[in-house]
Amino acid sequence: MPSEKTVLCIGAGYVGGPTMAVIADKCHDYKIIIADINEEKINSWQTDELPIYEPGLLEVVKRARGRNLFFTTDVNSAIKEASIIFVSVNTPTKTFGTGAGKASNLQFWEKTARNIVEQAESDKIVVEKSTLPVRTAEAMHRILSSNQKGLKFEVLSNPEFLAEGTAVKDLQDPDRVLIGGMGTPEGEKAIQKIVDLYASWVPREKIVTTNVWSSELSKLVANAMLAQRISSINSISAFCEKTDANIKEVSKAVGMDSRIGSKFLNASVGFGGSCFKKDILNLVYLCEYYNLPEVAKYWEQVVLMNEFQERRFVQKVLVNMFNSITEKRIALFGFAFKADTGDTRESPAIYISELLAEEKAEIAIYDPKAIENAKFDLAGLDADIDYCSSPYTAVENAHAILIMTEWNEFRDYDYKKLFEKMKKPAFVFDGRNILDHKKLYNIGFNVYPLGMAPLTHV
Ligand SMILES: NC(=O)c1ccc[n+]([C@@H]2O[C@H](COP(=O)([O-])OP(=O)(O)OC[C@H]3O[C@@H](n4cnc5c(N)ncnc54)[C@H](O)[C@@H]3O)[C@@H](O)[C@H]2O)c1
Repeated sequence: MPSEKTVLCIGAGYVGGPTMAVIADKCHDYKIIIADINEEKINSWQTDELPIYEPGLLEVVKRARGRNLFFTTDVNSAIKEASIIFVSVNTPTKTFGTGAGKASNLQFWEKTARNIVEQAESDKIVVEKSTLPVRTAEAMHRILSSNQKGLKFEVLSNPEFLAEGTAVKDLQDPDRVLIGGMGTPEGEKAIQKIVDLYASWVPREKIVTTNVWSSELSKLVANAMLAQRISSINSISAFCEKTDANIKEVSKAVGMDSRIGSKFLNASVGFGGSCFKKDILNLVYLCEYYNLPEVAKYWEQVVLMNEFQERRFVQKVLVNMFNSITEKRIALFGFAFKADTGDTRESPAIYISELLAEEKAEIAIYDPKAIENAKFDLAGLDADIDYCSSPYTAVENAHAILIMTEWNEFRDYDYKKLFEKMKKPAFVFDGRNILDHKKLYNIGFNVYPLGMAPLTHV
């Protein structure tokens, strides 16, 4: 019989890796195994060159690795050994068939469930860590219960709320941990086991237990609402540019209302990341499926507004650079979808590069952590692209700098030195509103922030 305290996580990605590393770090009496079919990834987790960049993660992994944290590609043996199995495989948007472009592609999830049934030799608690459509747990329960071995599987939902870039901090001190179960006595017992695991370091009042459907839906709604705030403030940034209003002043004044709060009110070039768009589209699909077209349209608008903001940004570049950027070198500062991560999935920088390529601009990209991912994302793009190892190389003979990511280091560069290397007139389009615009203007740049009046010499 496997030990009650052997936990397996299937999927060693942005969620599985950090989540399980923190659990292992906090719960010395549990053995934590992380399994993935991607051998290269598993090998990297066992070195100091982790497959993902997250501040503080290497220290956590090093403390636990080899003690109670183990990595393997042998998923089958790990399934046999564990009594609790978290599933954290990817659930991308479906690109084919019914629901294409909106619904979640659950093939990886279903394969994993079938594999668990095949390999298991004892009862298991299976925990959905991946973000899944409402009622997936029910389907999973049916697949798992179809076994002929007389084994019992309890399916729970425990969605992950970490944000990339602050994953370790979010996991060590979460706003809440959500655990949903089936409401049966066995389900309640299973919930209690997962509560006990988290209670090793999370205060009990922050551990919320619900029914399984509420838990699945809460994750989709949390992401939809976060993205909605970004789209809302971005829509107002467009309005500010037509008037004398200033988006930073508006955000501050609005956010000081304690009912609204100040977080997630920075105008930007748009949201990215693997989750927001996919989860909203999944919500839209579910609303359509349950015949709620008005609700579906309401949420779809959040994604459409994001695309509008990305296009609007490139239009602004084009119009202000004399309606032509053909053969002009444009330096992109940042390619990751946000600061402190190398993740570029759905990054606005990808779509913006495509739009710049359509105008036949020369693109120079610098990012402290995401250059390799940028190369992968733009591999098929017919464009003149220079991947640079420093911001100073990126701006060599460039006409403009576009701030794509809010990396802190971008604030501290020697912009006088950068200006000297550029063609004149030199432009800065601050897609994150993080630079000192007055200072740049005084150096000689033409500065275009978001949702604020430009500072121009031409
Ligand atoms: N990235 C985030 O910030 C975040 C936050 C919260 C929730 N989520 C959700 O968590 C889930 C995982 O996201 P991620 O960003 O970690 O994805 P990811 O692509 O980084 O990792 C998924 C991993 O699963 C592995 N995998 C796929 N099929 C497998 C199988 N059959 N057996 C073993 N391994 C398999 C892949 O090789 C990959 O390493 C998604 O549902 C996502 O929506 C992500």
